[in-house]
Amino acid sequence: MKKNANPKSSTDKFSTKLGAVAAAAGSAVGLGNVWRFPYIVGEDGGAVFLILYVIFTIAISIPIMMTEFAIGRKSGLPVTSAYRSLAPHSKWGVIGVLGVLTAFLISSYYNIVSGWTLYYAVSSMGGWLSGLSEVAVADYFSSLSADPFRCIIWMMLMLGATAAVVAQGVQGGIEKYSKILMPLLFLLIVVMVVRALFLPNGLDGISFFLKPDFSKLTTKTVFDALGQSFFSMSIGMGTMTTYGSYLRKSENIATTASHVAVVDFMVAFLSGAVIFPCVFAFGVNPSQGPGLVFVTLPNIFNQMPMGQLFASFFFLLLVVAAITSSVSLLEVVVAYLKESFKYGRRKATLVASLLCLFFGILCSLSQTIFSVFDNITANVLMPIGAFLIVLFAVHRLPKDEFRAEFEAHGVSFRLFNAFYFLVKYAVPIVILIIFANGILALLGISY
Ligand code: PFF
Repeated sequence: MKKNANPKSSTDKFSTKLGAVAAAAGSAVGLGNVWRFPYIVGEDGGAVFLILYVIFTIAISIPIMMTEFAIGRKSGLPVTSAYRSLAPHSKWGVIGVLGVLTAFLISSYYNIVSGWTLYYAVSSMGGWLSGLSEVAVADYFSSLSADPFRCIIWMMLMLGATAAVVAQGVQGGIEKYSKILMPLLFLLIVVMVVRALFLPNGLDGISFFLKPDFSKLTTKTVFDALGQSFFSMSIGMGTMTTYGSYLRKSENIATTASHVAVVDFMVAFLSGAVIFPCVFAFGVNPSQGPGLVFVTLPNIFNQMPMGQLFASFFFLLLVVAAITSSVSLLEVVVAYLKESFKYGRRKATLVASLLCLFFGILCSLSQTIFSVFDNITANVLMPIGAFLIVLFAVHRLPKDEFRAEFEAHGVSFRLFNAFYFLVKYAVPIVILIIFANGILALLGISY
């Protein structure tokens, strides 16, 4: 979680290593891991996607996260002003503006999915999902998602909770809780994996998830894998630049980013290891889209001893994970409004939330707008943002100054040259190629 908005005061720095990792992991781990990852894997044919996802995360996303941390810490400012302050009188400030736009668009549909999660937490506590047949579980979700009124009400509750945290300056409290609650979510998912493996046909799900079928490799798979990796790691839009500004100089940027990536990957991987056995055991279509997690998991809870209790805990913990991520999204928009319009924190939070509410309503009324926001943010805006960020790092920052940020306070970073090579050549070239191919595929142009 984010600390006080003024990054200059020393009390705003994370006091412990765990604090820094936990905060960035709080933003990274969210619905992207448990909701988005399995549904995209399902749409893109399973294990081939997973392989690409791992490669991109290691070779592209971790270096970008490190770059964002370094720029944020060097400038000591949130994303909206970090790039402008390091390169005054230039156009690089556009990275901040793009980040605000991306954060705003993601918030608009993210809170709808958070709302569904809260609804499922309440439904589980009320026992309304208990004992439902597989068909009834599927109907339960479709009746919710097809009912804009209910979606809007539950979204407003989640947006309200997010706004309440952001309005207070996101201090202490939620970070403390999430340090306890997130490992608990992790543990619960591990228990669910064990149960899922013993479902009839469960192992077919595991082989769909882990055994690559290269005939399923398409341009879309590659495009989606890169986008999902960016989305899941919260990179390419400046959230991690802002977190970098809270890192202490003595913190090792490379290990911090790697730890966040490992935690983030594990949660996504384990979610897949629960959901795909369920998909095969309960006859769900793996490519059925954004409802996947909601039409599979209630079935497994129905087959677990104390399933209602497990379900209630699981969805509640997922709500917390969603809030720690959506707080980091809203904060980007709030910081921008504060800075550009000189609003106070409360007013900025109110205006940002009302804007998100308005666009959230549009997303809940139209499946198409929802999907466009979902795809365009992860697959288009985040890659553009990431591309500009690495370009900034290698073309605008002197190499020795950039390096010094990684080696501050005697921290050694022996792999700096390899890292710099990745950031200078591999990352921008790969993004460019995948991006151009993906756009052509989106437009239906094949060659
Ligand atoms: N990484 C978050 C998730 O996986 O749910 C989503 C997200 C949060 C994306 C914050 C971007 C961001 F700035």
